[in-house]
Amino acid sequence: MAPEPLNVALLGTKFMGRAHSNAWLSVAKFFDLDRQPNMHTVVGRNEAELAAFAHRWGWAEHSVDWHQTVTDDRIDLVDIGTPNNMHADQAIAALEAGKHVACEKPLAHSLGAAEAMVAAAVQSYAKSGARTFVWFNYRRVPAVALAHQLVRRGALGRVYHARAAYLQSWGGPDTPLLWRFDGDVAGSGAHGDLNAHIIDAVRFVTGEEITAIEGAVEETFITERQVVDPGSSASGQKDASTVDDAVAFLARLSGGGIASFEATRLATGYHNANRFEIHGERGALRFDFERMNELEYYNVDDGPTAGWRTIDVTRGAEHPFVDAWWPDSHGLGYEHTFVNQAADIITMISGGTPVVPMPDFADALRTQRVLDAALEAARRRVPIPVDPV
Ligand SMILES: NC(=O)c1ccc[n+]([C@@H]2O[C@H](COP(=O)([O-])OP(=O)(O)OC[C@H]3O[C@@H](n4cnc5c(N)ncnc54)[C@H](O)[C@@H]3O)[C@@H](O)[C@H]2O)c1
Repeated sequence: MAPEPLNVALLGTKFMGRAHSNAWLSVAKFFDLDRQPNMHTVVGRNEAELAAFAHRWGWAEHSVDWHQTVTDDRIDLVDIGTPNNMHADQAIAALEAGKHVACEKPLAHSLGAAEAMVAAAVQSYAKSGARTFVWFNYRRVPAVALAHQLVRRGALGRVYHARAAYLQSWGGPDTPLLWRFDGDVAGSGAHGDLNAHIIDAVRFVTGEEITAIEGAVEETFITERQVVDPGSSASGQKDASTVDDAVAFLARLSGGGIASFEATRLATGYHNANRFEIHGERGALRFDFERMNELEYYNVDDGPTAGWRTIDVTRGAEHPFVDAWWPDSHGLGYEHTFVNQAADIITMISGGTPVVPMPDFADALRTQRVLDAALEAARRRVPIPVDPV
């Protein structure tokens, strides 16, 4: 008898709502799965927009009541793509109802909320076997997954340096007061949005933890932005932006190496440069999402002919995730990272092993602790150790 389909409920219908809908829609077409996802219910706030969204993407039902949906007996997996301050309430309610939960990053808008989510995840796993997943989707860029595998195979040896930056430039003075600039909703600005990704990437690729923040700077360059909420009497006026536009920090790695991180929405000239470089005693790796189908590798053992080599990660079926897609060198894009993650989520729920390790809530809490410690270091101007989870 064929296994039961996996009934998915998605919360959120905008940027991530579209990326995740595409993933659930496509995943069974490209990957061989033990269970088929069923796009059961999508949740949003605007009834008319929601009906059109559900129709366009193939969600069978839609609802403006997230609580009722995440506790619905028919739902197996709750997928959270809402603003950061909603994650904890929605995830905890779903976990208490015994659902598997896949949540967007950062795990939460605050460390306390993230800790509460992990506590609920531990209880729910013990009671009903519910699994948690976090959409650090860049782990499933084939080049980043390959970097992880190469480090596991010893390609770098001891790691001396990790240098990571996530550079965007959309947050100038003309950008309105979106939820991303509201500290109560987002928790932080470029920091939780972008540093979260590169902290996770460095942890994932090196296999090491960040043990201390040695120093940090936090800056809000644009302190007021125009209110755009049509329902607000303040619409058109300016109000305070209460998050950082940029945060940079220096850190120590558990293997003895040092690391730097920089996230900004004001790096004029860069649009989505999510990049890292890792230098070890045997070799080095570098990656830039703006050239996402390439991984650069330097091997000390090449001796006098050593030099950076550019690996086309879409060439050769042995590279992670690539065999599910196209013939050699037919490039992949941003959306494929979400499809790859959806495949691994279903594999894990079905009892299988993901292609590369998947962050659960406890894993994402480690990243959240680093985020929190970096802001504390910036505000108190002192080094801050990072608590182990
Ligand atoms: N993994 C990635 O690459 C990536 C990229 C962008 C955003 N994100 C994360 O995804 C999450 C959502 O970001 P986004 O860019 O999609 O935001 P968005 O503003 O584009 O969409 C947010 C959605 O949440 C809905 N929503 C808001 N409050 C709600 C509520 N109370 N109940 C139900 N729905 C509600 C909105 O109606 C909207 O559909 C954030 O946590 C963000 O950090 C991740």
